[in-house]
Order: sequence, then C-alpha cells, then structure tokens
Amino acid sequence: MFLSADPTTAAPARAHLSAALGPAGRARAESFLHACPRHAPTPLLALPGLAARLGVGAIAVKDEGRRLGLGSFKALGGAYAVMSLVLAEAGRTLGRALAPSDLALPEVRAVAARITVTSATDGNHGRSVAAGAKISGCACVIFIHGGVSAARAEAIARFGAEVRRTAGSYDDSVRESAQTAAREGWTVVSDTSWDGYEDIPLTVMQGYSVMAGEALDALDQPPTHLFLQAGVGGMAAAVAAHASARLGPGAPVVTVVEPARAACLFASARAGRVTEIPHGEATVMAMLECCAPSPIAFEVLQPLAAGFVTLDETEAVAAMKRLAFPEPGDPAIVAGESGCTGFAGLAQCLADPAARRALGLGPGSRILLFNSEGATDPALYERIVGADPASIART
Ligand SMILES: Cc1ncc(COP(=O)(O)O)c(C=O)c1O
Repeated sequence: MFLSADPTTAAPARAHLSAALGPAGRARAESFLHACPRHAPTPLLALPGLAARLGVGAIAVKDEGRRLGLGSFKALGGAYAVMSLVLAEAGRTLGRALAPSDLALPEVRAVAARITVTSATDGNHGRSVAAGAKISGCACVIFIHGGVSAARAEAIARFGAEVRRTAGSYDDSVRESAQTAAREGWTVVSDTSWDGYEDIPLTVMQGYSVMAGEALDALDQPPTHLFLQAGVGGMAAAVAAHASARLGPGAPVVTVVEPARAACLFASARAGRVTEIPHGEATVMAMLECCAPSPIAFEVLQPLAAGFVTLDETEAVAAMKRLAFPEPGDPAIVAGESGCTGFAGLAQCLADPAARRALGLGPGSRILLFNSEGATDPALYERIVGADPASIART
C-alpha cells in the first residue's frame, strides 16, 4: 500500500539532528571506524538489466552484506556509538582529550572495563553493539525477544556478550533493557530514541551516514530516488538526511518502506505524529518488526519523505529471489529478508500508477537502494530462496 506525503508541509527537524547526519558527522564516525580492522567501503552494484526490465534509467544497490564482517549496515551504528561513549567516559575520567586511536591505551581500557553497555535487538544492532564492546573492552548484555532466531543469538554471543531472552515483542525488550540498565547502572546503546534519550541513538544514526556517503561518492550522477527500508526509522532518516545535506535542492525523492505487519512510520506519517501501533503477527522481514518509531528518526524523515510503502510478506520473498537470480549480465545479490525490502518497495511503486505519478518515477529515474543485510540467518535464507547464500554469491 502506498501513502503519498507532502514533505513541504512538515516542520523541519531540529538543526542539530540534521547537522549530525551530514558530511561532518560521517567524518567523525569514520574516524572511529578506522579502528576496526575490517573497515572498508562496501560495493555499489549497478543493475542495468533490472533497470531496463522495470523501465527506469538506472538501479544501484549498495551491498551491506559484508559490512565489517557483520553482515549488515548495523555494524556501522552500534559499534561506533559504543566506541564513542567509551572514549568520552575515558576522557572525562582521565581529564584529557583523547583520539579514537587511544581506545587501545591501557588507561582507557581500564575505564572501559568498568562500563557495561546494553541494548535490545532484533539481531543486527545487538551484534554491532557486542562487537563495539569487544573492540573497546567493556562488558555487554543484549536483550532479545522470542522471535529472534538461535543463529542470530549465537552471532551476538560470539563477541562475548551475554544474551538474555525476554517475554513479549521487540518493543517489550527495548523497555526491559532500559529498565535493567537503570537498575544496574549500565549504559543503554539503543538504535531507537525516546523522550529524554536522544544522544546515543543519534550517534548510532550518525554511523549509518557512512554508508550513505560512500554510496553518493561512488555514483557518477546523484540518484533521483531512494527507497529506504525502516524498522524504527534510524537508517532511513540517516540516509535521507545525509543525501539532503550533500545534495540540497537536488536531493532524491525519498520513499520509506516497511512490512505491512509493522508499519509504524506509515501510521505516523498518516497521523502526522509519532504513532505506536499494536503488535501483530510476526513478519518474515524480522529486522523491521518494530511497532514504535524512533521519535528523532520520524522528526528527520517527516520533512524529507515523499512516500511511505507497506509490503506484504510475499513481496519480500519475491524480492529476495529476484535479487538472487538476476537479469542476464547483472550481478547476483544475497539480500536477507529485510535487506531486500527497499527493492521490494520500488517494485511495488513501479507497478502502481498512482505511486509512479506521485514519486515521478519513469525512464529517467536513477534509483539508489541499500541491501541492508546479507544472509544473516543462512539456513532461513536457503529455505526461502531455495539455494544457499554461498552458491548465490559465487554466481
Ligand atoms: C537489515 C536491516 N535493515 C533495515 C533495518 C532498519 O533500520 P532502522 O531500525 O534503523 O529503521 C534494520 C534494523 O535492525 C536491519 O537490521
């Protein structure tokens, strides 16, 4: 389902939010990410065959499947936020200014050893926070709800984090991590914000601006359209804000894509304010199963997004397969259940004359998409696509 929005009627986001997600914010995040041994730009893949088949000018996919060896763009946010807050705490304790490379100093690690970071997760964000805690030398406790697969839980525990299962939904696990942190004196590193808790989620989003910046650097011509998948909205807001800061009035038309079963930004856009929706049936787009938007993400997105799309379950499955088995000459892309959804949103809008018109989609359109995760649960990927991710990656 497509909802056309008029971004010009929304109030601009507070200036510090937009500023944090622009080029200076990206540079700050990169200065920390250089400390990660596997930090490198991810590939930007051109799909001319698919673009011709769908009747648009160009489709480029930024493939986050191998980001920092963690399987998703989330690697950029949580890990960076943990490193940033550990360094800030060490600077306060030691009474001197520190650079990201100082994270390895024994006196900084001694401060880190007294810090416990925590978060709730659908999988990918928790993995990133756990990786950041390992790099920084602090303790980490990650809360997951019953729907998070055992494979995803193990991937978090592999970084030495304690993983705790909670009753209820993702949104319940967010509340539980915050309550436990308040009791224990831990630091919450959440990818979603709430009233009075904005700085750390904004730092997490600042990390995501790195992938937006890399994509814009790699394109010969700026994109005309972005289709951005959303859980709480942090990724979509960071990419949209970064593109807007870099390209000004020439910034692309932004469409936000969510599962119909967890479309909290769609509901918020329709209501004109942050709206939590009731938790319903589980979605295969598990990383996007969020029923409450991040208020700062919605604040940034509302004046930037021209459209909001909800996806049926079958649309995500079809998109995974279409990216895995490409048009002749196009590269195959291993896109996870949530990674493929920007493309699924594009496919839906191209098939809907009203959406095409509202977004100005046509043969001159240059589309930028983000495959936000690879096969973060390889067995599930194989069940859905009918081939194992390694064999798709080799084609
Ligand atoms: C693979 C993937 N794509 C997209 C998202 C959506 O990001 P956000 O919750 O910031 O909207 C997530 C969130 O966990 C994710 O893991």
